[in-house]
Amino acid sequence: TGKPALHPGSSDFIVVSNRLPVDRVSADIDDAGWRRSPGGLVTALAPVMAAREGAWVGWHGAPDEELEPFRHDDMDLIPVALSADEVELYYEGFSNATLWPLYHDVIAPPEFHRTWWDCYRKVNRRFAQAAASSAAPNATVWVQDYQLQLVPRYLRQLRPDLRIGFFNHIPFPPPEIFAQLPWRRDIISGLLDADLIGFQRPSDSANFLRSARRFVGAGVKASQVQIKDLDGKTVHISRAAPFPISIDVAKIAELAVRPDVIARSKQIRADLGNPKTILLGVDRLDYTKGITHRLKAYGELLSDGDLTVEDAALIQVASPSRERVESYRLLREEVDGMVGRINGQFDTTSNTAIRYLHHSYPVEEMVALYLASDVMLVTSLRDGMNLVAKEYVAARGNNTGALVLSEFTGAADQLKSALLVNPHDIDGLKSAIMRAVRLSPGESSRRMRAMRRQVLSHDVQRWSEEFLDTLQQEAELQ
Ligand code: G6P
Repeated sequence: TGKPALHPGSSDFIVVSNRLPVDRVSADIDDAGWRRSPGGLVTALAPVMAAREGAWVGWHGAPDEELEPFRHDDMDLIPVALSADEVELYYEGFSNATLWPLYHDVIAPPEFHRTWWDCYRKVNRRFAQAAASSAAPNATVWVQDYQLQLVPRYLRQLRPDLRIGFFNHIPFPPPEIFAQLPWRRDIISGLLDADLIGFQRPSDSANFLRSARRFVGAGVKASQVQIKDLDGKTVHISRAAPFPISIDVAKIAELAVRPDVIARSKQIRADLGNPKTILLGVDRLDYTKGITHRLKAYGELLSDGDLTVEDAALIQVASPSRERVESYRLLREEVDGMVGRINGQFDTTSNTAIRYLHHSYPVEEMVALYLASDVMLVTSLRDGMNLVAKEYVAARGNNTGALVLSEFTGAADQLKSALLVNPHDIDGLKSAIMRAVRLSPGESSRRMRAMRRQVLSHDVQRWSEEFLDTLQQEAELQ
């Protein structure tokens, strides 16, 4: 559409992420066969892609399938194939059973397997090769997230002319925890081959800089990292800094005033019997999200009599995620069991304690849920950012509603007027929930206004511009 078909070596802006930003809607590999996935990242980057000669390198989600590059929505999409074995070792294994738990405060025990690491390296090299062969001279390449931390290294080796950025969407752990990783030096040096390494929170970039000093002996001055050769000559300078990600504010705000979405939100309330208070949790079914802590607190509030099923209902959306990874299977059993016990004890023929939805929904339905809910519960034990918290705020155009937000999320840095909680403190969580339920209209509106000012002025567009502008300046300094 408009632009000439893709040919190798012609892209001057390339995004590399584990997943391509499209979902398959039919088996046909034409425009009609794919739909852009709802994430904020693609919304922010699609205009940059269209304005420059942009390409996106990523896995298309189906194991054992090789696809040719194709165009969709003014983007060149370059699929990277993964075999079923590679999905198991690189994606489910090293990415999601080693790095994910290690980077999230070892909430689940990380597993260290050399076969997983070997496959992670092999697959990272493949992503780097795909980017290297599509990149025009001096192109900018922006690598995303923990699945691809070695891509800057391989890319730099293949194409020293490139400007390389990396953004870590999840937390970066303190060196005391990162130290467990047998391949800690490789990961740090892999990342340091980028010109700019972005993190969510200042604490994440500080953790990374401490690890760079400790594990590879890098020279760190403020946010700058100098890599020296054996003669002590500086061969490369990298920089690590926080760039808190955000959401597509315009999209959420537009949906929040659409008559069909508003009607749907009323329907949701009516279907639950129009209780005084609806509480909402929306998460991928992941042990980092503190879902069991939330359910424990809610169950106790019901048994203490602070809440009743006539007056309140909790909607818990838990979208299926990484279902073949053991810790996720165990979590699902635990959550299913807790919800069953609480509902069994408190439900009546006409009211339910928890409406538990193990599905994922289109963004229209999500916004209807945000509008239907008086209290949003975000109780992560550790979370890089948590975009659900920001979406709830963006949807609440009339300044009503309350946000209970874990201090262990990146979002807590920006949403200081939320009711901040430590989800490990069940009594503290219970009182924060009751405070949210009873918040006066004045206080609720004051808090929501302050949060909306922050979110509305910092959308995902601004995030990507700030990162890419800084990357440009860094490269000019070299
Ligand atoms: C987190 C990660 C993303 C990942 C997403 C969904 O937000 O930071 O990189 O894409 O979870 O997980 P999945 O394993 O399904 O890609």
